[in-house]
Amino acid sequence: MKIDILLGLQWGDEGKGKVVDALCQDYDVVARFQGGPNAGHSLEFNNVKHVLHLIPSGIFHPGKLNIIGNGVVLDPSVFKCEIENLGPSVEELTGRLVLSAKAHLILPTHRILDAAYESHKGNSRIGSTLKGIGPAYTDKAGRNGLRAGDIIRPDFRDLYEEHKSAHLMMLKNYNLEYDLKEYEKGWFEGIELLRKFRIENTEYLLNKLSSQGKKILAEGAQGTMLDLDFGSYPYVTSSSTISAGACTGLGISPGNVGDVFGIFKAYCTRVGSGPFPTELNDETGELIRKKGSEFGATTGRPRRCGWLDLPALRYAIMINGVTKLFMMKSDILSGFKTVKVCSSYNISGENQAEIPFDNNAAIEPVYTELEGWSEDITGIRQYSGLPQNLRKYIAYIEDQTGVPVTIVSVGPDRNATIFR
Ligand code: GDP
Ligand code: IMO
Ligand code: MG
Repeated sequence: MKIDILLGLQWGDEGKGKVVDALCQDYDVVARFQGGPNAGHSLEFNNVKHVLHLIPSGIFHPGKLNIIGNGVVLDPSVFKCEIENLGPSVEELTGRLVLSAKAHLILPTHRILDAAYESHKGNSRIGSTLKGIGPAYTDKAGRNGLRAGDIIRPDFRDLYEEHKSAHLMMLKNYNLEYDLKEYEKGWFEGIELLRKFRIENTEYLLNKLSSQGKKILAEGAQGTMLDLDFGSYPYVTSSSTISAGACTGLGISPGNVGDVFGIFKAYCTRVGSGPFPTELNDETGELIRKKGSEFGATTGRPRRCGWLDLPALRYAIMINGVTKLFMMKSDILSGFKTVKVCSSYNISGENQAEIPFDNNAAIEPVYTELEGWSEDITGIRQYSGLPQNLRKYIAYIEDQTGVPVTIVSVGPDRNATIFR
């Protein structure tokens, strides 16, 4: 059975956690393919909200297997906190969570380096979540990393000390105060917990399950516009957030990919620095933030808010080969007299459909204004029950992108999901 991929088409926080959890009944396996604890994926059921950072969003479904793939960077201390707060016992979780031996470890000194690099950047800082993501992927690409599979080596502690010393040398160039001992304590406790889990070459496991006919969903983190290659570099994360990243981050071949589900909010948000053409620095932006509770699930930072950006959405659909669109947080747009959609960019007086290379290009969004709807839609479960103007909004997006919207999300709960 081919492997489906679900990923974000904007700047992250599109609602991946919610929709993976809602789709889980149709899958046997959920596998995270990139990113690390910079992610914050929220799920809600039985009136309780859960936020996951490293663990795939299928974990609350007994009987489903969850895999942390080789493309992920893993912080053992975050892993430990997350496992302890999940609910099910460690014994139960070891039966449904498997980790790739090839996933790289985030060391305590990676987090300190992240802080050092960001503070050194001053006004051009990226707005990193400071979870050590950039430095850990740097060591991976530089062939200096430690991997989950290394923890069983008898010389693991020596290897760790070698890596730490190299990082401490780098940190001498920065005037930064830090308490490494405190970080290290939680980190080594996390290593002990990791030893209880299956750590293996998950590419074999995934391909075996796929050939046995099991249904596998690859779960992305971040979003396409934060991709290392195709996002607004350098205001990006350090991994491949796109559909191709699922192949390298899990060890699956492109020919074995089925559907690519692209998920987007009915508007846009971004947390951290970097270009955001449709950003609303006014009371409308403030209202969207308030109605949508747009505050980061990992850092608590207020998210920047703006109208839907079609040039960015079309770009993300193109890069990922999206086959189906899922529109999230549709309920948040209820109550606006009109809703705007950016259909193209005006750059130096010219209408442009493409995202410019230059992050500093002065982009003026060209808006199409559609009639709004006032109904509370959070209780609606049938597409036909949605307000006509919302259906027109969706039809407009489908027309502009050429891809069908097959899920409309109308609330944070797993049940507040309309399947078309
Ligand atoms: P992720 O990183 O893509 O998993 O998204 P986050 O969890 O960081 O942010 C999405 C937020 O929106 C979370 O607080 C979700 O509970 C919430 N959410 C998801 N879908 C909907 C929806 O359709 N309506 C509303 N009101 N909230 C939603
Ligand atoms: P989920 O999976 C939103 C942003 C950060 C920063 C940039 C680089 O929840 O959608 P990093 O910590 O990777 O060095 O930060 O990327 N960022 C996210 N924004 N959602 C996320 O994940 C993000 N992960 C990283 O704010 O601008
Ligand atoms: Mg998030």
